[in-house]
Amino acid sequence: MSAYEPKITPWAVKGLPFPQKDAREQLLFLLRFAILAPSIYNTQPWLFRVAPPTIGLLANPAQRFAACDPEGRHLNLSLGCALENLLIAAEHFGFAHNVEYFPEVDDAYPWAAAVTLASGGSLAPWRQHLFDCIPARHTNHRRYQERPVPAEALRALQNVVVEEGVVLQFVEDVETHQRIREVLDRADAQLFADPNARQAILESVLEGTIAVGWLASTLGRIAAHALRLDALALHREEGAPLHAPLVGLILTQEDDRVQQVRAGQVFERVHLMATYLGLSVQPINHALGLLSNRQALIAALHLDATPQMLFRLGFAEPEPEHTPRRPLESVVLAD
Ligand SMILES: Cc1cc2nc3c(=O)[nH]c(=O)nc-3n(C[C@H](O)[C@H](O)[C@H](O)COP(=O)(O)O)c2cc1C
Repeated sequence: MSAYEPKITPWAVKGLPFPQKDAREQLLFLLRFAILAPSIYNTQPWLFRVAPPTIGLLANPAQRFAACDPEGRHLNLSLGCALENLLIAAEHFGFAHNVEYFPEVDDAYPWAAAVTLASGGSLAPWRQHLFDCIPARHTNHRRYQERPVPAEALRALQNVVVEEGVVLQFVEDVETHQRIREVLDRADAQLFADPNARQAILESVLEGTIAVGWLASTLGRIAAHALRLDALALHREEGAPLHAPLVGLILTQEDDRVQQVRAGQVFERVHLMATYLGLSVQPINHALGLLSNRQALIAALHLDATPQMLFRLGFAEPEPEHTPRRPLESVVLAD
Protein backbone atom coordinates (compact mmCIF):
# COMPACT_ATOMS: atom_id res chain seq x y z
CA MET A 1 0.00 0.00 0.00
CA SER A 2 1.19 3.53 -0.73
CA ALA A 3 2.74 5.42 2.17
CA TYR A 4 0.64 8.43 1.22
CA GLU A 5 -1.13 9.82 4.29
CA PRO A 6 -4.46 11.63 3.90
CA LYS A 7 -4.10 15.12 5.37
CA ILE A 8 -7.35 16.98 4.90
CA THR A 9 -10.90 16.22 5.82
CA PRO A 10 -12.48 14.50 2.79
CA TRP A 11 -9.73 11.87 2.84
CA ALA A 12 -10.17 11.08 6.53
CA VAL A 13 -13.42 9.27 5.74
CA LYS A 14 -12.22 5.90 6.96
CA GLY A 15 -12.09 7.19 10.52
CA LEU A 16 -15.80 8.05 10.45
CA PRO A 17 -18.45 5.62 11.76
CA PHE A 18 -20.91 4.17 9.22
CA PRO A 19 -24.46 5.34 10.11
CA GLN A 20 -26.35 2.34 11.49
CA LYS A 21 -30.01 3.36 11.17
CA ASP A 22 -30.99 6.07 8.71
CA ALA A 23 -31.02 4.80 5.09
CA ARG A 24 -30.49 8.27 3.60
CA GLU A 25 -27.52 8.91 5.92
CA GLN A 26 -26.04 5.57 4.85
CA LEU A 27 -26.27 6.47 1.16
CA LEU A 28 -24.79 9.91 1.83
CA PHE A 29 -21.92 8.19 3.63
CA LEU A 30 -21.16 6.12 0.51
CA LEU A 31 -20.94 9.34 -1.50
CA ARG A 32 -18.02 10.47 0.66
CA PHE A 33 -16.02 7.79 -1.19
CA ALA A 34 -17.47 8.68 -4.61
CA ILE A 35 -16.26 12.31 -4.44
CA LEU A 36 -12.65 11.25 -3.86
CA ALA A 37 -12.54 10.07 -7.49
CA PRO A 38 -10.28 11.69 -10.08
CA SER A 39 -11.82 13.99 -12.68
CA ILE A 40 -10.64 15.95 -15.69
CA TYR A 41 -8.86 19.10 -14.44
CA ASN A 42 -10.39 18.26 -11.05
CA THR A 43 -13.70 19.66 -12.32
CA GLN A 44 -15.67 17.13 -10.17
CA PRO A 45 -18.50 17.24 -12.73
CA TRP A 46 -20.89 15.13 -10.62
CA LEU A 47 -24.15 15.75 -8.80
CA PHE A 48 -26.16 13.23 -6.80
CA ARG A 49 -29.80 12.65 -5.96
CA VAL A 50 -30.36 10.46 -2.92
CA ALA A 51 -33.71 8.70 -2.64
CA PRO A 52 -33.23 5.38 -0.80
CA PRO A 53 -32.69 2.75 -2.07
CA THR A 54 -31.48 4.65 -5.15
CA ILE A 55 -28.65 7.07 -5.77
CA GLY A 56 -28.75 9.09 -8.97
CA LEU A 57 -25.37 10.03 -10.48
CA LEU A 58 -25.95 13.12 -12.59
CA ALA A 59 -23.72 15.22 -14.82
CA ASN A 60 -23.13 18.84 -13.92
CA PRO A 61 -22.92 20.43 -17.39
CA ALA A 62 -21.53 23.64 -15.84
CA GLN A 63 -18.38 21.68 -15.04
CA ARG A 64 -17.78 20.45 -18.60
CA PHE A 65 -14.52 21.90 -19.84
CA ALA A 66 -15.93 22.83 -23.27
CA ALA A 67 -12.67 23.87 -24.95
CA CYS A 68 -11.12 20.43 -24.46
CA ASP A 69 -14.23 18.35 -24.11
CA PRO A 70 -16.77 19.35 -26.75
CA GLU A 71 -18.62 15.98 -26.63
CA GLY A 72 -18.57 15.48 -22.87
CA ARG A 73 -16.31 12.42 -23.17
CA HIS A 74 -14.04 13.47 -20.32
CA LEU A 75 -17.08 14.32 -18.27
CA ASN A 76 -18.42 10.77 -18.78
CA LEU A 77 -15.03 9.24 -17.96
CA SER A 78 -14.90 11.27 -14.74
CA LEU A 79 -18.44 10.20 -13.81
CA GLY A 80 -17.34 6.60 -14.35
CA CYS A 81 -14.52 7.08 -11.83
CA ALA A 82 -16.97 8.38 -9.21
CA LEU A 83 -19.40 5.55 -9.99
CA GLU A 84 -16.73 2.92 -9.42
CA ASN A 85 -15.77 4.36 -6.04
CA LEU A 86 -19.45 4.40 -5.07
CA LEU A 87 -19.95 0.75 -6.06
CA ILE A 88 -16.82 -0.43 -4.25
CA ALA A 89 -17.86 1.45 -1.09
CA ALA A 90 -21.41 0.07 -1.34
CA GLU A 91 -20.07 -3.50 -1.49
CA HIS A 92 -17.74 -2.83 1.42
CA PHE A 93 -20.66 -1.73 3.60
CA GLY A 94 -22.73 -4.79 2.65
CA PHE A 95 -24.89 -3.56 -0.23
CA ALA A 96 -25.67 -5.39 -3.44
CA HIS A 97 -26.19 -3.00 -6.36
CA ASN A 98 -27.86 -2.69 -9.70
CA VAL A 99 -26.71 0.00 -12.14
CA GLU A 100 -28.88 1.43 -14.89
CA TYR A 101 -26.79 3.58 -17.24
CA PHE A 102 -28.34 6.78 -18.61
CA PRO A 103 -31.89 6.10 -17.41
CA GLU A 104 -34.65 8.31 -18.79
CA VAL A 105 -35.50 10.55 -15.85
CA ASP A 106 -37.36 13.84 -15.97
CA ASP A 107 -34.81 16.07 -14.27
CA ALA A 108 -33.10 19.43 -14.81
CA TYR A 109 -29.75 17.58 -14.92
CA PRO A 110 -28.88 14.56 -17.10
CA TRP A 111 -28.64 11.23 -15.25
CA ALA A 112 -25.57 9.13 -16.05
CA ALA A 113 -26.58 6.24 -13.78
CA ALA A 114 -29.18 5.11 -11.29
CA VAL A 115 -27.61 2.89 -8.62
CA THR A 116 -30.17 0.88 -6.68
CA LEU A 117 -28.92 -0.73 -3.50
CA ALA A 118 -30.15 -3.70 -1.50
CA SER A 119 -28.81 -5.49 1.56
CA GLY A 120 -26.80 -8.70 1.14
CA GLY A 121 -23.82 -7.53 -0.91
CA SER A 122 -20.20 -8.31 -0.22
CA LEU A 123 -16.78 -7.30 -1.39
CA ALA A 124 -14.55 -9.80 -3.22
CA PRO A 125 -11.08 -9.94 -1.58
CA TRP A 126 -9.36 -8.16 -4.49
CA ARG A 127 -11.94 -5.36 -4.35
CA GLN A 128 -11.22 -4.95 -0.63
CA HIS A 129 -7.73 -3.73 -1.66
CA LEU A 130 -9.37 -1.20 -3.95
CA PHE A 131 -11.64 0.05 -1.15
CA ASP A 132 -8.68 0.42 1.20
CA CYS A 133 -6.88 2.60 -1.38
CA ILE A 134 -9.71 5.06 -2.18
CA PRO A 135 -8.43 7.74 0.27
CA ALA A 136 -4.77 7.20 -0.68
CA ARG A 137 -5.16 7.32 -4.48
CA HIS A 138 -3.93 10.49 -6.12
CA THR A 139 -2.64 11.62 -9.47
CA ASN A 140 1.14 11.83 -9.38
CA HIS A 141 2.79 14.53 -11.54
CA ARG A 142 6.29 14.01 -10.13
CA ARG A 143 9.39 12.37 -11.54
CA TYR A 144 8.92 8.65 -12.21
CA GLN A 145 11.85 6.32 -11.59
CA GLU A 146 13.50 4.23 -14.34
CA ARG A 147 12.66 1.10 -12.31
CA PRO A 148 10.50 -1.16 -14.48
CA VAL A 149 7.03 -2.23 -13.38
CA PRO A 150 7.18 -5.97 -12.50
CA ALA A 151 5.28 -8.36 -14.76
CA GLU A 152 3.16 -9.65 -11.86
CA ALA A 153 1.98 -6.09 -11.15
CA LEU A 154 0.95 -5.75 -14.79
CA ARG A 155 -1.01 -9.01 -14.51
CA ALA A 156 -2.75 -7.75 -11.37
CA LEU A 157 -3.72 -4.56 -13.23
CA GLN A 158 -5.01 -6.55 -16.22
CA ASN A 159 -7.11 -8.71 -13.90
CA VAL A 160 -9.26 -5.76 -12.78
CA VAL A 161 -10.54 -5.23 -16.34
CA VAL A 162 -13.67 -7.36 -16.47
CA GLU A 163 -15.91 -5.42 -18.88
CA GLU A 164 -16.59 -6.78 -22.34
CA GLY A 165 -15.31 -4.49 -25.09
CA VAL A 166 -12.89 -2.61 -22.80
CA VAL A 167 -9.17 -3.31 -23.22
CA LEU A 168 -6.11 -2.26 -21.21
CA GLN A 169 -2.82 -2.07 -23.12
CA PHE A 170 0.67 -1.26 -21.89
CA VAL A 171 3.21 0.49 -24.08
CA GLU A 172 6.81 0.01 -23.05
CA ASP A 173 8.99 0.70 -26.05
CA VAL A 174 10.68 4.07 -26.32
CA GLU A 175 9.92 4.53 -29.99
CA THR A 176 6.15 4.27 -29.39
CA HIS A 177 6.46 6.63 -26.40
CA GLN A 178 8.08 9.11 -28.76
CA ARG A 179 5.17 8.84 -31.21
CA ILE A 180 2.66 9.41 -28.38
CA ARG A 181 4.70 12.40 -27.20
CA GLU A 182 4.62 13.97 -30.66
CA VAL A 183 0.82 13.67 -30.80
CA LEU A 184 0.48 15.21 -27.32
CA ASP A 185 2.94 18.04 -28.04
CA ARG A 186 1.05 19.08 -31.15
CA ALA A 187 -2.28 18.86 -29.28
CA ASP A 188 -1.06 20.97 -26.34
CA ALA A 189 0.37 23.65 -28.63
CA GLN A 190 -3.04 23.86 -30.37
CA LEU A 191 -4.89 23.99 -27.05
CA PHE A 192 -2.86 26.89 -25.71
CA ALA A 193 -3.19 28.73 -29.04
CA ASP A 194 -6.99 28.81 -28.51
CA PRO A 195 -7.99 31.94 -26.49
CA ASN A 196 -11.14 30.24 -25.11
CA ALA A 197 -9.11 27.31 -23.84
CA ARG A 198 -6.51 29.62 -22.30
CA GLN A 199 -9.26 31.56 -20.51
CA ALA A 200 -10.91 28.37 -19.19
CA ILE A 201 -7.55 27.04 -17.97
CA LEU A 202 -6.74 30.38 -16.32
CA GLU A 203 -10.07 30.35 -14.47
CA SER A 204 -9.45 26.80 -13.22
CA VAL A 205 -5.95 27.69 -12.05
CA LEU A 206 -7.30 30.72 -10.16
CA GLU A 207 -10.06 28.58 -8.63
CA GLY A 208 -7.33 26.19 -7.51
CA THR A 209 -8.90 23.19 -9.24
CA ILE A 210 -6.24 22.58 -11.93
CA ALA A 211 -3.19 20.83 -10.54
CA VAL A 212 -0.14 23.09 -10.75
CA GLY A 213 2.00 20.06 -11.60
CA TRP A 214 -0.04 19.48 -14.74
CA LEU A 215 0.23 23.11 -15.78
CA ALA A 216 3.99 23.23 -15.21
CA SER A 217 4.69 20.05 -17.17
CA THR A 218 2.34 21.01 -20.02
CA LEU A 219 3.79 24.52 -20.38
CA GLY A 220 7.30 23.06 -20.26
CA ARG A 221 6.52 20.74 -23.15
CA ILE A 222 4.92 23.51 -25.20
CA ALA A 223 7.95 25.72 -24.70
CA ALA A 224 10.29 22.89 -25.67
CA HIS A 225 8.24 22.17 -28.77
CA ALA A 226 8.19 25.85 -29.79
CA LEU A 227 11.91 26.28 -29.18
CA ARG A 228 12.72 22.90 -30.74
CA LEU A 229 14.64 21.88 -27.62
CA ASP A 230 16.00 18.38 -27.51
CA ALA A 231 12.94 16.42 -26.40
CA LEU A 232 14.89 13.77 -24.58
CA ALA A 233 16.71 16.29 -22.38
CA LEU A 234 13.47 18.03 -21.45
CA HIS A 235 11.58 14.86 -20.79
CA ARG A 236 14.07 13.85 -18.15
CA GLU A 237 12.86 16.75 -16.04
CA GLU A 238 10.47 16.34 -13.14
CA GLY A 239 6.86 16.11 -14.21
CA ALA A 240 7.58 15.45 -17.87
CA PRO A 241 4.50 13.51 -18.96
CA LEU A 242 6.06 10.57 -20.68
CA HIS A 243 9.01 10.18 -18.39
CA ALA A 244 7.87 6.84 -17.04
CA PRO A 245 8.76 3.23 -17.75
CA LEU A 246 5.26 2.49 -18.96
CA VAL A 247 2.28 4.10 -20.64
CA GLY A 248 -1.16 2.55 -20.20
CA LEU A 249 -4.04 2.90 -22.61
CA ILE A 250 -7.70 2.01 -22.05
CA LEU A 251 -9.56 1.41 -25.31
CA THR A 252 -13.17 0.53 -26.09
CA GLN A 253 -14.57 -1.34 -29.09
CA GLU A 254 -17.74 0.77 -29.10
CA ASP A 255 -17.59 4.47 -28.46
CA ASP A 256 -20.89 5.53 -26.92
CA ARG A 257 -21.55 7.33 -23.64
CA VAL A 258 -22.11 4.06 -21.72
CA GLN A 259 -18.71 2.74 -22.81
CA GLN A 260 -17.14 6.08 -21.85
CA VAL A 261 -18.54 5.77 -18.32
CA ARG A 262 -17.42 2.12 -18.22
CA ALA A 263 -13.92 3.11 -19.37
CA GLY A 264 -13.86 5.59 -16.47
CA GLN A 265 -14.83 2.78 -14.08
CA VAL A 266 -12.01 0.61 -15.43
CA PHE A 267 -9.50 3.45 -15.15
CA GLU A 268 -10.45 4.07 -11.51
CA ARG A 269 -10.11 0.36 -10.73
CA VAL A 270 -6.69 0.26 -12.42
CA HIS A 271 -5.61 3.38 -10.53
CA LEU A 272 -6.75 1.95 -7.18
CA MET A 273 -5.02 -1.37 -7.85
CA ALA A 274 -1.87 0.52 -8.90
CA THR A 275 -2.03 2.42 -5.59
CA TYR A 276 -2.31 -0.88 -3.73
CA LEU A 277 0.78 -2.13 -5.60
CA GLY A 278 2.74 1.02 -4.68
CA LEU A 279 2.63 2.38 -8.24
CA SER A 280 1.95 5.96 -9.32
CA VAL A 281 -0.38 6.99 -12.13
CA GLN A 282 -0.91 10.20 -14.11
CA PRO A 283 -3.49 10.47 -16.87
CA ILE A 284 -2.05 12.28 -19.92
CA ASN A 285 -5.42 12.37 -21.47
CA HIS A 286 -6.79 15.86 -21.75
CA ALA A 287 -5.93 16.17 -25.46
CA LEU A 288 -8.01 13.08 -26.30
CA GLY A 289 -11.23 15.04 -25.79
CA LEU A 290 -10.80 16.33 -29.34
CA LEU A 291 -11.57 14.01 -32.26
CA SER A 292 -8.57 15.20 -34.31
CA ASN A 293 -6.19 14.23 -31.47
CA ARG A 294 -7.81 10.82 -31.01
CA GLN A 295 -7.48 10.22 -34.75
CA ALA A 296 -3.82 11.26 -34.63
CA LEU A 297 -3.17 8.80 -31.79
CA ILE A 298 -5.07 6.00 -33.58
CA ALA A 299 -2.95 6.59 -36.69
CA ALA A 300 0.35 6.89 -34.78
CA LEU A 301 -0.21 3.66 -32.81
CA HIS A 302 -2.22 1.73 -35.45
CA LEU A 303 -5.07 1.22 -32.98
CA ASP A 304 -8.25 -0.65 -33.90
CA ALA A 305 -10.40 0.71 -31.06
CA THR A 306 -11.15 4.11 -29.49
CA PRO A 307 -8.53 5.41 -27.05
CA GLN A 308 -10.35 6.59 -23.91
CA MET A 309 -7.69 6.97 -21.20
CA LEU A 310 -3.96 7.41 -21.67
CA PHE A 311 -1.79 7.43 -18.54
CA ARG A 312 1.77 6.96 -17.38
CA LEU A 313 2.59 4.40 -14.74
CA GLY A 314 5.63 3.75 -12.57
CA PHE A 315 7.30 4.30 -9.23
CA ALA A 316 7.49 7.83 -7.83
CA GLU A 317 7.56 9.72 -4.55
CA PRO A 318 3.98 10.55 -3.53
CA GLU A 319 2.62 14.05 -4.06
CA PRO A 320 2.85 16.11 -0.85
CA GLU A 321 -0.89 16.82 -0.70
CA HIS A 322 -4.25 16.04 -2.28
CA THR A 323 -6.04 18.32 -4.73
CA PRO A 324 -9.11 19.99 -3.17
CA ARG A 325 -12.68 18.63 -3.27
CA ARG A 326 -15.99 20.48 -3.15
CA PRO A 327 -17.89 19.65 0.05
CA LEU A 328 -20.31 16.75 -0.28
CA GLU A 329 -23.28 19.01 0.64
CA SER A 330 -22.65 21.14 -2.46
CA VAL A 331 -22.93 18.20 -4.91
CA VAL A 332 -26.00 16.50 -3.37
CA LEU A 333 -29.15 17.99 -4.88
CA ALA A 334 -32.03 18.88 -2.59
CA ASP A 335 -35.27 16.91 -3.12
C1 LIG B 1 -10.85 11.78 -17.64
C2 LIG B 1 -9.65 12.33 -16.93
C3 LIG B 1 -8.64 12.97 -17.65
C4 LIG B 1 -7.52 13.48 -17.01
N1 LIG B 1 -6.52 14.06 -17.76
C5 LIG B 1 -5.39 14.50 -17.13
C6 LIG B 1 -4.29 15.01 -17.90
O1 LIG B 1 -4.33 15.07 -19.11
N2 LIG B 1 -3.17 15.40 -17.23
C7 LIG B 1 -3.08 15.33 -15.85
O2 LIG B 1 -2.06 15.71 -15.29
N3 LIG B 1 -4.12 14.83 -15.11
C8 LIG B 1 -5.25 14.43 -15.71
N4 LIG B 1 -6.27 13.89 -14.98
C9 LIG B 1 -6.14 13.82 -13.51
C10 LIG B 1 -6.85 14.98 -12.82
O3 LIG B 1 -6.14 16.19 -13.02
C11 LIG B 1 -6.96 14.66 -11.33
O4 LIG B 1 -7.76 13.51 -11.20
C12 LIG B 1 -7.58 15.77 -10.54
O5 LIG B 1 -6.74 16.89 -10.52
C13 LIG B 1 -7.86 15.33 -9.09
O6 LIG B 1 -6.67 14.97 -8.46
P1 LIG B 1 -6.43 13.51 -7.86
O7 LIG B 1 -6.55 12.52 -8.97
O8 LIG B 1 -5.04 13.58 -7.30
O9 LIG B 1 -7.46 13.26 -6.80
C14 LIG B 1 -7.41 13.38 -15.60
C15 LIG B 1 -8.42 12.72 -14.87
C16 LIG B 1 -9.51 12.20 -15.52
C17 LIG B 1 -10.58 11.47 -14.73
